[in-house]
Amino acid sequence: MDYNFPVTRTTTPKEKPTDCKTLGFGKYFTDHMFIMEYDEGQGWHDGRIVPYGPISLDPGSTSLHYGQLMFEGLKAYRNPKGTLNLFRPDMNAKRLNNTNERMCIPPMDEELFLAAVKAIVKVDEDWTPTDPGTSLYIRPFIVSPEVSFSVLPAKKYLFIIILCAVGAYYAGNESKLHGSRILVEENYIRAAVGGTGAAKTAGNYASGMIASYKAHDHGCEEVLWLDSKEHRYVEEVGTSNAFFKINGKIVTPELTGSILPGVTRDSVIKLLKKWGYEVEERRIELAEVFEAAENGTLEEAWATGTACVISPIGVLVYKDKDYPINNEVVGDVSQRLYDSLYGMQTGKLPDEMGDWIVEI
Ligand code: COI
Repeated sequence: MDYNFPVTRTTTPKEKPTDCKTLGFGKYFTDHMFIMEYDEGQGWHDGRIVPYGPISLDPGSTSLHYGQLMFEGLKAYRNPKGTLNLFRPDMNAKRLNNTNERMCIPPMDEELFLAAVKAIVKVDEDWTPTDPGTSLYIRPFIVSPEVSFSVLPAKKYLFIIILCAVGAYYAGNESKLHGSRILVEENYIRAAVGGTGAAKTAGNYASGMIASYKAHDHGCEEVLWLDSKEHRYVEEVGTSNAFFKINGKIVTPELTGSILPGVTRDSVIKLLKKWGYEVEERRIELAEVFEAAENGTLEEAWATGTACVISPIGVLVYKDKDYPINNEVVGDVSQRLYDSLYGMQTGKLPDEMGDWIVEI
């Protein structure tokens, strides 16, 4: 289907950032946004592009109270031809619908989602930064403006896409990766099986903030989440998926329902298999990781996510003890994954999987 969204251009364009080193992550929003309503009986309707600005929500809006919310995250990159590259946006469209199903939000046609993403990115494409580690971050989200105190799914929603010129998610990874310090979280949990961990919904992030603060107090950048039942198995790293290279083999926690199925996670598994690595998706005991760290077989560990791409782990901290990984040096596999993914995303390397890059 051909979508032709009306565009109302801003009359007061903002100054674009000139210093790519101070972009941060969520400071420089572009001039426009995509907005579309959902009403029961009518479906998603009236998609349009309007000047970026505040939205009006009644204080009694159900999403504000009960958190019926979802979001997605993907990036656009300027390629050497001068057009823009999206990375596997179909995966975001599919995940949006998986999240929606879990959160009782109506589904959206994948083609509509993709058309909306492409349309808004095209309008504000001049905001795409080009320095190493930078990109145009795309944040689609759904909120309900319905006024109600009943704990029931709403019948009205807003789908909005905002864009932001961003640098590296973890400061220090702008032009060269570094190994981060990660605190193993023993008490708080991110998600439980049967909960919303596999959905990209706001509550998962809100409940994790306290542990991130704790990690910062311990001089760490993020936390390693453990399972909710036994606090024995590895789940995620901060807002990202976790990978370990033990004795030549790559292991990552299997998707049990409490783990977010990351687009970068899936891409890393596929790339590693293509490169000939053995990759296991399975339960990983924390004890196995520490044993490998102590006997020298824990060769690398890294986090994967849209925001951070690949973020190597230099040290795990548990009960005030440091477990350094690869002498805190960024490993070859982490670096190769970052170079390949970022190379494909920015169009500096060919798309080695054939259909991962969508040029607009
Ligand atoms: C992403 O990696 O895109 C995320 O959604 C994580 C967010 C905390 C920036």
